[in-house]
Amino acid sequence: MSLQDFLSTLDGLEEEASAAFETACDADTLEAARVRFLGQKSGALRDVQKRMGSIDKADRKTAGMRLNQFKSNVQEALENAKTRLGGDDSTGADPTFDPSLPGRRPSIGHIHPVTQTMTHLMEIMGRMGFEAAEGPEVEDPWHNFVALNIPEDHPARDPLDNFYLATAATGTNDRNVEGSQLLRSQTSTVQIRVMEDKQPPIRVISLGRVYRPDAPDATHFPMFHQMEGLLVDKNVTMANLKTVLRVFATNYLGDDVEIRFRPSFFPFTEPSVEVDFFWNGSWVEFGGAGMVDPAVFEAVGYDPEVYSGFAFGLGVERLCMRRHGITDIRDLYSGDLRFLQQF
Ligand code: DAH
Repeated sequence: MSLQDFLSTLDGLEEEASAAFETACDADTLEAARVRFLGQKSGALRDVQKRMGSIDKADRKTAGMRLNQFKSNVQEALENAKTRLGGDDSTGADPTFDPSLPGRRPSIGHIHPVTQTMTHLMEIMGRMGFEAAEGPEVEDPWHNFVALNIPEDHPARDPLDNFYLATAATGTNDRNVEGSQLLRSQTSTVQIRVMEDKQPPIRVISLGRVYRPDAPDATHFPMFHQMEGLLVDKNVTMANLKTVLRVFATNYLGDDVEIRFRPSFFPFTEPSVEVDFFWNGSWVEFGGAGMVDPAVFEAVGYDPEVYSGFAFGLGVERLCMRRHGITDIRDLYSGDLRFLQQF
């Protein structure tokens, strides 16, 4: 082979190899190109090297120098391509990526303050042996009124004070009570459902939504939550009621809270009281309570001569607002994250 042919073969190969390395788009195509040009067994370089022997002795030195130059140029093109594709390990990793930097924390919502409050209340009452019970939000008049000793002509059943369902129309339920279904106006409904279901002793609380057509203001909202409590056994007294509520209040609001009962009236308790807590300098009403009325026991088939019990119903939002210093109930339901994220 003439020196001239040898040199032009190398020129052509060098160009081809550089182009192949530059255009390699991933580790695999780059490796295939490396084998093709620099491979030990059958690479193009090897073929050219073999032809050195057929060159005139006088020209060998020139040929050898060009061959070395070829090797280093092609090797350099290969190294450049490797760097471009992400280094020797071929992971494609961005060299500007610093794996030791702390990650960006994804924002994953959090639990609504009213839900947090209910979980807390359930925990406190659970420690006193109260189990959680549930009832439907769409109720029939038997559970919302009749069994709770609220007769047909009672003002609490006024359509202006309740969300009766238009679609359910009127009908009779399994108790043959006439009237439309409604969104429950109190969690006292769950007292009836629990007592219909099982025999004393009973010790339950029920936390959930209730609905009343009140115009929203700082202390009213057409949907809110109540915590209902019911304890039925033999020889239950008003003193038991007061103790349970005091333990509850000190657990939830703090040791310096005081409790006060004011005489009141509810159709489903006799006697009935209004429950106030003295906290941070003022008395605040949190709900109603009393000894379960014998008429209620009769409605669910309990013998009022044998059993006695107490019940209470407290406003969950009030408790939540007092504890956290929230002054407007509407803030809880505005959906404004700047407010909600504080809890
Ligand atoms: N259900 C009553 C209301 O919504 C609150 C209440 C009062 C519940 C006395 C009771 C009770 O269990 O004994 O206003």
